[in-house]
Amino acid sequence: MSGSNYPVDLSVKPEVKAFFDPATNTISYVVKDPASSACAVVDSVMDIDYAAGRITYDHADEIIAHIRDNQLELEWLIETHVHADHLSGAPYIQRQLGGKLGIGEKITVIQETFGKIFNEGTEFQRDGSQFDMLFKDGDTYKIGEMTAMVMCTPGHTPACMVHVMGNATFTGDTLFMPDSGSARADFPGGDAATLYDSIQKVLALPDDMRLFMCHDYGQNGREIQWETTVGEEKEHNIHVGGGKSKDEFVKFRTERDAQLAMPKLIIPSLQVNMRAGQLPPSDETGRTFLKVPVNGL
Ligand SMILES: [Fe+2]
Repeated sequence: MSGSNYPVDLSVKPEVKAFFDPATNTISYVVKDPASSACAVVDSVMDIDYAAGRITYDHADEIIAHIRDNQLELEWLIETHVHADHLSGAPYIQRQLGGKLGIGEKITVIQETFGKIFNEGTEFQRDGSQFDMLFKDGDTYKIGEMTAMVMCTPGHTPACMVHVMGNATFTGDTLFMPDSGSARADFPGGDAATLYDSIQKVLALPDDMRLFMCHDYGQNGREIQWETTVGEEKEHNIHVGGGKSKDEFVKFRTERDAQLAMPKLIIPSLQVNMRAGQLPPSDETGRTFLKVPVNGL
């Protein structure tokens, strides 16, 4: 404790190394405990050329090389949520480096919803058992000697979680950079009012808390950025900053979401990420397929 109400020492300063994926505008992180060689990977990416049906691992290989080169020990692979715009590289990294794969316990809701949409058989378990750890709101866990904490932040999706690791917080899609605002809340199980409440939980962290985004799209042509602070977001976030009310936010978010196209990779992403980043089982000839539900989304 450091004089705060959080079960985390907010004065601990983990080393945060970011890996930007230009194909999906995702930022993955390696977060290292300052007191040991332990680290966590937050939101990794498996590369897909969807048009060609081709999967590769360049982005994950970069993360693996960084961990090996610095002789780090991977203890956790964290998914902030079931991503709809990129495929997780966590199982690939885990196979080579070990570590436990964790996501929010509400993954079971996502698995129910999308298990139906993709017409999965009973072999697709809807109990979250593909993951090593299902986090509940307020859970803590250790990365070496550093304590990390999980905040349940539904709204963008029901299983969204924000992870606080010392003075660094990983927002997933709960917040974007101040000039980009917030993520959509119109996926199945999403809700704008719930998202607003979740964002307030993040903004209740100390003003100097470092915030790390999962995505950035270089708003208005600026350079890609991924780091800001709670203070900056409170003051300047275009969707929730400067004391914007919940009603204003819900109205804006709902109108905006109605105009957004589906993410390009939503169909392969959900099928893979609801399985903790595993591809669907191969057929008897060893070939693997992804489905496209026609008019199903
Ligand atoms: Fe997302």
